[in-house]
Amino acid sequence: MSNNFQSQDTLGGIVLKFPQAADVFKKHGLDFCCGGDRSLAAAANEHQIDQSSLLGELNERYEDALKVGFVTKDWMSVSLEQLIHHIVNTHHAYLNQVFPTLSELTLKILRVHGQHHGDMLSLVHQKFNELRSGLEAHMIKEEEVVFPQIIAYEIAPSESKRESLQQLLLDLDREHEESGDILKTIREITDNYDLPEDACNTFAYVYRSLEDMEGNIFDHIHLENNVLFLRLSEQTVA
Ligand SMILES: [Fe+2]
Ligand SMILES: [Fe+2]
Repeated sequence: MSNNFQSQDTLGGIVLKFPQAADVFKKHGLDFCCGGDRSLAAAANEHQIDQSSLLGELNERYEDALKVGFVTKDWMSVSLEQLIHHIVNTHHAYLNQVFPTLSELTLKILRVHGQHHGDMLSLVHQKFNELRSGLEAHMIKEEEVVFPQIIAYEIAPSESKRESLQQLLLDLDREHEESGDILKTIREITDNYDLPEDACNTFAYVYRSLEDMEGNIFDHIHLENNVLFLRLSEQTVA
């Protein structure tokens, strides 16, 4: 087996090279978006995961993907504007679509199953709505303020534009951390989305959708923190 990835590679860097690594990290509960600058070794130690078997799994999946000619989008070579359009059209659009449905359904399962699972479901409902309101305001700020400034900076970089972006990016970064923390809390409350025995189809659908949403948000934050913001910070002013 080849050794495409090493223990000192960062989680974000691995996902950048091989997007399917995100599935492996999600499976093991490793945060590759907000914690993307940590090395695989550090993340594995923290989560008490065997480093060599994790590396083996990653390298094996990479080899399999190469054999079937997987195509990976190279986000380092497209323009920042193209990357921003992708983030907005894919990830922001996804959240704008699932938020209203999940808001309605988390309330519905609280109403129907509140008698037996009231404490847990009211917390899920509360934390979901906290996540939703935070991310909605966050995405509006990105679309209306930050992303247009990044596009303007890409067209005509200047020190003053870079300085005005710096604080904005720190704020976005902090808000990403806050969303990541809420997602971790929802995972804990639901015991890793483990369904109770008396769960109905709607209950199961809500858990599945929340878990899908978590994965989509991780991919979304990864593209912003580890690609967009990183590329911006490495861009030189002419
Ligand atoms: Fe975003
Ligand atoms: Fe964001």
